[in-house]
Amino acid sequence: MNLVQDKNTVPLLAAVNLSKSYRLPSKVVEVLKGASLEVREGECVAIIGRSGAGKSTLLHVLGGLDRPDAGEVFLRGQSLYALSPARRTRLRAQNVGFVFQAYHLLPEMDVTENVLLPAMAISRMGRAALRMRALELLDQVGLANRACHMPLELSGGEQQRVAIARALMNAPELLLADEPTGNLDRDTGCQILDLLFGLAHQSRLALVIVTHDAGVAARCGRVLEIEEGVMRPR
Ligand SMILES: Nc1ncnc2c1ncn2[C@@H]1O[C@H](COP(=O)(O)OP(=O)(O)OP(=O)(O)O)[C@@H](O)[C@H]1O
Ligand SMILES: [Mg+2]
Repeated sequence: MNLVQDKNTVPLLAAVNLSKSYRLPSKVVEVLKGASLEVREGECVAIIGRSGAGKSTLLHVLGGLDRPDAGEVFLRGQSLYALSPARRTRLRAQNVGFVFQAYHLLPEMDVTENVLLPAMAISRMGRAALRMRALELLDQVGLANRACHMPLELSGGEQQRVAIARALMNAPELLLADEPTGNLDRDTGCQILDLLFGLAHQSRLALVIVTHDAGVAARCGRVLEIEEGVMRPR
């Protein structure tokens, strides 16, 4: 398939019939049972659903972090799980930003190093330029004054904003964010959403945002609910 030629017709992200279970010693927990969705360039999609419904599981599968038992995930028409792990990691690093529900900052690196980390493997920019971009992003999330701090010296909401800056470091075309404002006060949350929706508008960044916040969902163009392992429009 010619990915460039098909850029306007092939969705940026397509998930088809995803199934995923967790196998425990005593039982199998079925989480995804044929979940499908499509996301186009610059589109903002909210994923809602009760706690334990499978939102984080879905996001990990969409981001190429966790292989589904069945079904496929396509990024610009490329089947993610058909790739070798090394090629999948590279494609993800180049195109997808991921904000984990639990942030996952590296505790032994300072804030700036955490933000520029995703660029180290793939960027041709020199270290000074990468640092500059990381500092700009930290400024955009309101953390210019925490650039040299260690993650454990930060509040939960500050760590969450570092994770958002890190996810934007490689200027992805898709951002998968797991409750990205869950730990922020209303004003700070609004500023972060303004930043993300601004990027969606100006740079055609597609957003898939998992949220329990009706206000956040209302700002997205489309809301999907995960229920009984499948996606339903709301
Ligand atoms: N590694 C795992 N091993 C076994 N079961 C798991 C694992 N991860 C998740 N689960 C189970 O899968 C289900 C879905 O979990 P998931 O984290 O995707 O839910 P969620 O919708 O993100 O919930 P929340 O809103 O609380 O973050 C839950 O019932 C959970 O107990
Ligand atoms: Mg979750």
